Amino acid sequence: MIRRSLIASAVLAALSLSTGTAQADAAAASASAAKYGCLGCHGVASKVVGPGFREVADKYKADKAAEATLIAKVRAGGVGTWGQIPMPPQAGPKDDELKAIVGWILSGAPDK
Ligand code: HEC
Repeated sequence: MIRRSLIASAVLAALSLSTGTAQADAAAASASAAKYGCLGCHGVASKVVGPGFREVADKYKADKAAEATLIAKVRAGGVGTWGQIPMPPQAGPKDDELKAIVGWILSGAPDK
């Protein structure tokens, strides 16, 4: 009995740890998106100049290569996927920051 409850509490601890981390990741990624000006052109839910990040998540939800594609696209800039307004190249975020931001976008840009 003791053993079982120990296992149960270990599982619970691991679960709450992983939710805690996901929340911290979302908060950090959305703070980076603000810091690097992404949110000046992108709404979380809907289009501003560029598409809303949740619209982006929806478009690529079945695309396993989306993370790499979008990291490259944001870095280089581009046009034509969402309309005729171009996204300028984004040099601000470091590689790991950009990966975190794109991962956050593809996970549906949760608030936390
Ligand atoms: C000056 C405005 C502007 C800024 C700043 C900007 N974007 Fe964009 N973004 C756009 C536009 C416009 C598009 C649509 C481009 C297209 O239609 O191909 C876009 C498209 C995207 C897409 C979807 C690309 C695709 O091919 O589907 C992602 C992801 C994205 N932006 C992320 C970011 C991130 C992350 C940042 C900050 C580092 C950022 N954007 C900064 C305007 C901007």
